[in-house]
Amino acid sequence: MIKLAPSILAADFANLGAEIEKIDKAGAEYVHIDVMDGLFVPSLSLGFPVIKSIRKYSNRVFDVHLMVENPDRYIDETAQAGADIITVHVEACKHIHRTIQKIKEAGKKAGVVLNPGTPLETLEYILEDVDMVLLMTVNPGFGGQKYIETMTTKITNLRKMIEERKLTVNIEVDGGIKLDNLSKVIEAGANIIVAGSSIFNEDTAKNIHNFKEVIKRYS
Ligand code: DX5
Ligand code: ZN
Repeated sequence: MIKLAPSILAADFANLGAEIEKIDKAGAEYVHIDVMDGLFVPSLSLGFPVIKSIRKYSNRVFDVHLMVENPDRYIDETAQAGADIITVHVEACKHIHRTIQKIKEAGKKAGVVLNPGTPLETLEYILEDVDMVLLMTVNPGFGGQKYIETMTTKITNLRKMIEERKLTVNIEVDGGIKLDNLSKVIEAGANIIVAGSSIFNEDTAKNIHNFKEVIKRYS
């Protein structure tokens, strides 16, 4: 099943509740929430009070992407704020296996994120433990960047790795996904699609409709 996860980083923060209702109504299955700490990535975005406030506007899956150093410090708060999936960067964790267990102990789905330059080998001994792998298709920190072409092979190779092990791990892609490269990442093996600037841009509902039209061809 291919799911769409609009990244609210590109939404109008003054009207977040309404923005979330809009994507929910238009049929996006996930809400992708980018938390940045100004340390792991240069920018700051939003934190737990915001996640808590928007939780009441949608029952969709809250997919929280933690771009923070040592995310162990925030797993419980992220869970309590209303996350359904918590994803952490392998580059930001000293003990990634332990962090994954911590997410599961909090009763949430666990995801790990790999920056573009981080090899798939880092997943070797943790792939069995996660629900989702998020492959960054841009360097994290900002919306509106260009898709890094070499990431297509990385998606293909990860899908192969998952199939060889007969696992059901989801592959999420994040960064620079637009209507014109959507088919490419799906064909490579991605099944959760994050998109920020290409969704929250002029007519959000229409953008979601267009994305879903492409996705439908693969369902
Ligand atoms: C980038 C974030 C993304 C971002 C994607 O660090 O993780 O989720 O919002 O934005 P677009 O789709 O505009 O590249
Ligand atoms: Zn993200």
